[in-house]
Amino acid sequence: MKKTIAVLEGDGIGPEIMAETIKVLNTIQNKYGHEFEFIFGDFGGMGYDKQGSPFPESTKEICDTSDTILKGPIGSPKYDSIPDLNLRPERGGVLALRKRYNTFANLRPVRLPKELLSFSPLKQSVLGKEIDLMIVRELIGGIYFGKKEQGQKENGERFALDTMEYTETQVKQIARIAFQEARKQKTVLHNIHKSNVLECSIFWNEIVNEIQEKEFPDVQVGHMLVDNVAFQLVVNPSQFKVMLMENMMGDILSDQCGGILGSLGLMPSACIGPKKAYYEPAHGSAPAIAGKNIANPYSMIGSAALMLEYSFGLKTEAEEIWNALFQIMHAGYQTPDLIHNSNEKQKQISTNEFGTMIQKTIEEKKETQNKEMEYRVLL
Ligand code: IPM
Ligand code: MN
Repeated sequence: MKKTIAVLEGDGIGPEIMAETIKVLNTIQNKYGHEFEFIFGDFGGMGYDKQGSPFPESTKEICDTSDTILKGPIGSPKYDSIPDLNLRPERGGVLALRKRYNTFANLRPVRLPKELLSFSPLKQSVLGKEIDLMIVRELIGGIYFGKKEQGQKENGERFALDTMEYTETQVKQIARIAFQEARKQKTVLHNIHKSNVLECSIFWNEIVNEIQEKEFPDVQVGHMLVDNVAFQLVVNPSQFKVMLMENMMGDILSDQCGGILGSLGLMPSACIGPKKAYYEPAHGSAPAIAGKNIANPYSMIGSAALMLEYSFGLKTEAEEIWNALFQIMHAGYQTPDLIHNSNEKQKQISTNEFGTMIQKTIEEKKETQNKEMEYRVLL
């Protein structure tokens, strides 16, 4: 298979974890006879520094013409003082990228197989057998994209405004993705909301119920208030399998799930639109540890595995990557972010060593079992 991949390395630890990911993708390409062409584009803070924009025209062109996009984490405090918010990496880069490709479905798998449960700061008795849930987050609506304003009232008092808005189409399309995932997993769909306060949530829940009745009568829905979910995730996380939520709630609960896993470095994600998808870790660019060769590249490598499966349909290759990731972590090899939480015999490794170990594991493994994939093509 021949594919072009736009590579947006990002800021902070971005280039380091991306380098390891490309190493792994090269190994996959050699082993399976694919041809991946990587085309680098300036983005985020790097785009601003080099070309005066977090999403320069040249990068848009690269993204438009590539088969898919692999993106590292962006931002750093140094860009927080750029006066024009639309030139900051988050608003002018990430949100613009999401909008451009209408990547409405953000899938964030939260996984700790039973062998790796000791990474979690939670007690084993609380965690249950394993952690395996999927956050299905709406990504192009809600308060992130609603009307924004800052100004002064007539009496001179300053004010700020962000608006939460959802259309029927937006709720329907993300609800369908979540229902499909729940149906495939033969599990209940947890719909997360704040309908005791928000009009948007009342509307959201109505649409979710309509879709369930008309299109997914076989899937059971559990409606839960978001504040309760924040509590339940800590006291009984394994009750959740597939969780549907709007943009901002998804942002917050994603990081909480990273906390349950023991590191945000264990949070890959897929952002899928009707015509194009992009893949990124759910965490930030961790400027404090950038350039030290200690960042955990799991989330970036895992995002590449999601890319192989969702964008290219390469399930076996994706599974090879997951197996290698779990295998070397199970053998006790960990980047420093996971060392303190683990009771196992630990061997601290660098970002670079982590990538090389994944690469070797894949190279050395001769046969790939054709077992049922846990990550499925949704669109
Ligand atoms: C995420 C990030 C982004 C978000 C930022 C960088 C805009 O935190 O993907 O979770 O808030 O969506
Ligand atoms: Mn976030």
